[in-house]
Amino acid sequence: MATAEQVKSLIRSHFSNQPQQFFTVALQVAAHEAQQGHQSLAHEIRALVDNAKSRAMHEIPLTPELDHLVLTSMPKERLGALVQSDEMRGRIERVLREYRQKAKLEKHGLTHRRKMLLAGPPGTGKTLTAAVLAGELGLPLFTILMDKIVTKFMGETSAKLRQIFDVVQERRGVYLFDEFDAIGGERSRNNDVGEMRRVLNSFLQFIERDTSDSLIVAATNNPHILDHALFRRFDDVLHYHLPEPTEIKRLIENRLGSFRQKKLCLESAIKIAVSLSHAEIAQACDDAIKESILADRETVTATLLKQMLQERRSAYKASMRG
Ligand SMILES: Nc1ncnc2c1ncn2[C@@H]1O[C@H](COP(=O)(O)OP(=O)(O)O)[C@@H](O)[C@H]1O
Ligand SMILES: [Mg+2]
Repeated sequence: MATAEQVKSLIRSHFSNQPQQFFTVALQVAAHEAQQGHQSLAHEIRALVDNAKSRAMHEIPLTPELDHLVLTSMPKERLGALVQSDEMRGRIERVLREYRQKAKLEKHGLTHRRKMLLAGPPGTGKTLTAAVLAGELGLPLFTILMDKIVTKFMGETSAKLRQIFDVVQERRGVYLFDEFDAIGGERSRNNDVGEMRRVLNSFLQFIERDTSDSLIVAATNNPHILDHALFRRFDDVLHYHLPEPTEIKRLIENRLGSFRQKKLCLESAIKIAVSLSHAEIAQACDDAIKESILADRETVTATLLKQMLQERRSAYKASMRG
């Protein structure tokens, strides 16, 4: 049987709505049972927890008012999936390191870095970075749908943001304010620039005041909005770029995985891929893999890969013209 302390702790975490704590205690109960020689009970408890966890993470109810405005997931992405310059990876690793050892920092009155601004062109890994942070730290990822909030609530946007920051405080996780400049842009239906400025300012104030344990990640495709007032609110500002040839190579190799020929020469493929984003290159690799599978081939040929990259390039050019 579980100890009295464990039962109390289960009840407490259930009613204070701390699923993570609940799962931790449930696993302690399983470990306790295993020690007593009740292996099959321990196994059953672990299976229950695993099941509940994967379900819970998809439907962690925020508050009913925030439903549909925040997406919840439990990412599995790891740092290895992210192809970026060494400098960028180093800075992301530092966020992870500080988070993992935050207690050590706290002893000296220091806080771990946890407010990040990611800026750069679409498809260079900003959203992926938020997923990697969550995946590496075992935290849920909450994606705040900024443009939905703005179009749906307009004048009440700041009030909605306040509710969200209450959740940030209560529930530890990675909070991604994706394309947050939706609140600063012309996309707002009423196009009231003054109102949007105010919303942006209150957003920045919420970020500045936040003292939670959560990671706050704001991402933007639109670097124009980055004035100095913005920079100083964040512990880190990361600028994303289109991939360099060495990164293109790594990205293709990663992405092709077991479909990569041992002696695949990538030189000319890389030339075609220059000026495409990571996302477009990844997509071309996936397309090439699919073609190969359908043609009953075990690996992707250089010719096929080049063809798929060329297709992406033409699509890109067409959209530039259009
Ligand atoms: N730096 C990267 N390294 C590896 N894959 C990437 C990278 N950037 C983008 N991708 C691929 O493209 C997809 C979309 O990228 P995303 O992170 O949504 O870009 P962004 O948020 O910057 O627009 C990712 O899920 C991933 O498959
Ligand atoms: Mg994105």
